[in-house]
Amino acid sequence: MFRAILVAVLSCLALSLTGCSESSLEGCVETLAGGPLPIATARDQRFQGKVRESTARCRGGEVALKFLNTPWVDWANYYATRDAASLEDLETRNRRGIGGALIDLEYARVELLKFNLFDNAGTYQQYVTGRPGIDGPALKTWAEMRLPPTHPSFADVGGAGEQVCTGALIRGRTLTGICNDLRNPLMGSSGTLFANNAEFESLFPDTGLNAIARNRHGDRLSLLKPDPQVISRRLFTRAQSDPTACGDGHGNPGAAKGGDCDYKKAPFFNVLAAFWIQFMTHDWFSNLEEGHNAPESMNVGCTSQLVAGIDTPLTPQDVARLGCRPEDAIDKGFVADGTAPQTFTQGGREYATRAPKTFRNTNTAWWDASQIYGYDETSRRRVKRDATDPARLQVVLVEGRSTAGDRQGYLPLLDASDPKLPDWSGQEAVAFPDNWTIGMSFFHNVFAREHNQFVDEFRRRAARTPDADSGLRNPSNPARIIRYRDVTADELFEAARLVVSAEIAKIHTIEWTPQLLYNEPLFRGMNGNWFGLLNGEGPLPDSLERTLLRLRDAPSSRANDVYSIVASGPGIFGQGSGKRGWSLSNPDDVNGGTNHFGSPFNFPQEFVTVYRLHPLVPDLIEYRETGNPDTIQSHVPVIETFRGKATPFVRQRGLGNWALSMGRQRLGLLALQNHPRFLQNLRIERLQSPTKQIDVAALDIIRDREHGVPRFNEFRRQYGLRQITSFDDFIDRRLPPDSPEARNQAQLASTLREVYGQHRCDVSKQITVAQRNADGSPIDDCLGHSNGSMVDNVEDLDTVVGYLAEATRPHGFAISETQFVVFILNASRRLFSDRFLTSSFRPEFYTTLGVDWVNNNGPQKMVEPRAINGHDDQPVSPLKRVLMRVMPELESELAHVANAFDPWARDRGEYYSLEWRPRSDARNDEAFRPPRAP
Ligand code: HEM
Repeated sequence: MFRAILVAVLSCLALSLTGCSESSLEGCVETLAGGPLPIATARDQRFQGKVRESTARCRGGEVALKFLNTPWVDWANYYATRDAASLEDLETRNRRGIGGALIDLEYARVELLKFNLFDNAGTYQQYVTGRPGIDGPALKTWAEMRLPPTHPSFADVGGAGEQVCTGALIRGRTLTGICNDLRNPLMGSSGTLFANNAEFESLFPDTGLNAIARNRHGDRLSLLKPDPQVISRRLFTRAQSDPTACGDGHGNPGAAKGGDCDYKKAPFFNVLAAFWIQFMTHDWFSNLEEGHNAPESMNVGCTSQLVAGIDTPLTPQDVARLGCRPEDAIDKGFVADGTAPQTFTQGGREYATRAPKTFRNTNTAWWDASQIYGYDETSRRRVKRDATDPARLQVVLVEGRSTAGDRQGYLPLLDASDPKLPDWSGQEAVAFPDNWTIGMSFFHNVFAREHNQFVDEFRRRAARTPDADSGLRNPSNPARIIRYRDVTADELFEAARLVVSAEIAKIHTIEWTPQLLYNEPLFRGMNGNWFGLLNGEGPLPDSLERTLLRLRDAPSSRANDVYSIVASGPGIFGQGSGKRGWSLSNPDDVNGGTNHFGSPFNFPQEFVTVYRLHPLVPDLIEYRETGNPDTIQSHVPVIETFRGKATPFVRQRGLGNWALSMGRQRLGLLALQNHPRFLQNLRIERLQSPTKQIDVAALDIIRDREHGVPRFNEFRRQYGLRQITSFDDFIDRRLPPDSPEARNQAQLASTLREVYGQHRCDVSKQITVAQRNADGSPIDDCLGHSNGSMVDNVEDLDTVVGYLAEATRPHGFAISETQFVVFILNASRRLFSDRFLTSSFRPEFYTTLGVDWVNNNGPQKMVEPRAINGHDDQPVSPLKRVLMRVMPELESELAHVANAFDPWARDRGEYYSLEWRPRSDARNDEAFRPPRAP
């Protein structure tokens, strides 16, 4: 039955989206005759984003054929997946290209859900073995997700008997994230364990866990080998044409104009987008507790480098030349459990029950705006509510600031009684205060105002129609209608939290991500996750919804293969909320839209890795003012806004001016040699080391090694992507070989070779079980090169370094395809698993106004007057709406903006243009002046 559904759905997708009616084309006929690609049944038979020759020809013609032999995914070369130059006159071709890309992406997601879920909380054995009558990937509840007897809510959820959350525990998002899933109360809550996406046996490559790992890396790796500070200085440092004007990221004294730090810029993504993602990570995960790690301190390198392939101590001259610091030290990472895991046997194979070391996510894993509202008792104490109306967040008026936005107020400061690190003194009071700069101050202030906007609109409606039904219900008494006048301040506060969290999830899904991945397939894919690919049209979404519920409850793992494909029809968001007869008294309705695919939800440690996005941050902010938006008034070093210094900057200059400044400025490309200088030299007062400084870029590498994340090539294989076989694979073959970019990439490949080295390879050493060679033979140490030849140590490459080196990316991708594949899996799961974004997205929890607010991006619908990339009648995007509400002074500036994360003065051109040219009324903007001659 499952195969029949799968074929039907894929054919439907293929026909509705690909338009394979141009049947004269040989490739399409062959592709159709071959039927849908089977879903892999074994890890080493995965699709790897690579298609048959006939499929490539059908979907992308000669261009797609040309790059079939590269390691990089094929869909990026299909018709209509790039800018206007990739559009064909024949519309059917464009549809084949876009539809084909969507099919490839869906295959990737199906395989990721099937092969990449490794839970560390004790459920993995059941995932592999199943329980009587039910396959492991079809399991829905786990004893490990029960609240323990020591938990304060133990008795409330059922104690030692069956545990089901009810009453007050299910009304809204709980402080620590318990009871999101009614029958798995502990899942996703603060302090639960990070999962993994890579097989446990592939983790901690430097410990030589097994023969395969030893074959892969020899004895070349340890926590500080290759040296992380040397990697940082050679591969991460931003080159400066005028080092004095940059001052290592400190610019000119007094933040004066003329400070200048070169950085590689992404033309289609702005600085707001950089700080947005930091703001998001502070919601999703943290390895730290209250801004620090474990009590013990450790040195962090700047001690050795490879010379002629031999690890050699650095001389004082080397240290001076590199600019690294051997005396730096930082606290070691926390470990939850470092004891050897137990093992079990299934089908003749031995498995570990968990990773060799486990780590706690100290945040809630839910998209619950916990960075604003709190994730434990300590963080909640920093969240300040308005004493005159406790449904509102506290804001204060700032003397001298008087725009319509300023009158909505600014966050108050941490006070003496708030729990805090001394380093945080003087900054605004929020639940997650670490690594505070102008960027965090900006978004926290924006969403505090947005929270209050919702509360104020609710209060206005309550004043107009006090006896009307607010939509809200109390699960302890579901039949009682709660009128507007009955809603308590606490109830309204929690409803506003739900609304703000869902708005944030929507902004991220349909505004930030489609600009991060700026092309048509991803626009459709991300809108598909939210609204559904069918967007309420097409074949019977209602029946698809019923099919989904049946698939979700099926005891077979094969149902999972089909589930995410079917879900792409109606969309993930709101899944199960429209079920006929939905009842608040029925836990299976309240919870019924979620699917965890057999493995409890938490982020994997590999997810943290791909969010180490420090190159996004420029050293200096080009500060502007709304009265004169084209002129850069001064260059404000981000480091001059670190921690408490952010607060006077944001207050004295005004939130609207910062929105304009960060909205117009391009962010840093995620690329090698593009880390902010200031982050390599960050001063952290709490450190006991002689330097009190830390190189955050080097720390990114060290933390991943501490967490046992596989190195780049095995990381790709684990996620079902094709391996590289030489550092030269990083050179983008789409570029003319003698172009400056290609030459620069060749230079970087040779620096990688110097830093990571080479070795004489041995074909007798198998280095992975995750994939095989095309002929079915095991992959060996020579990676296709001849036995005994010198090969690059590509297996040792740290994952962060590898993904920053990936120059070959799909059009408009601000991230690499390796990072992207991690998002495909985890961004989808973050929606699939959360009932507040699926079956509990209902007025009973959000209020009627709240549901409308999330759906309409505010109190009423607004539609853009112009088509966007060929799409008519687009709703005004959700962050743009928020910015218009909380800073009305930006109205004329925002009028031209289609996506708040695209540089605001950029002319977006016709179809996914990446060009850097001004829109007609911003021709005088200084940022469009030609760059200085070197
Ligand atoms: C100016 C802004 C920023 C500063 C000062 C900063 C600082 C830091 C520091 C000091 C750490 C190391 C913590 C440790 O492991 O001991 C860190 C970790 C991290 N940063 Fe940043 N960062 C900034 C911007 C960003 C941005 C834009 C992103 C984008 C997502 C980001 C993502 C991360 C992630 C994912 C970690 C690891 C956190 C964890 O392990 O829980 N940071 N950052």
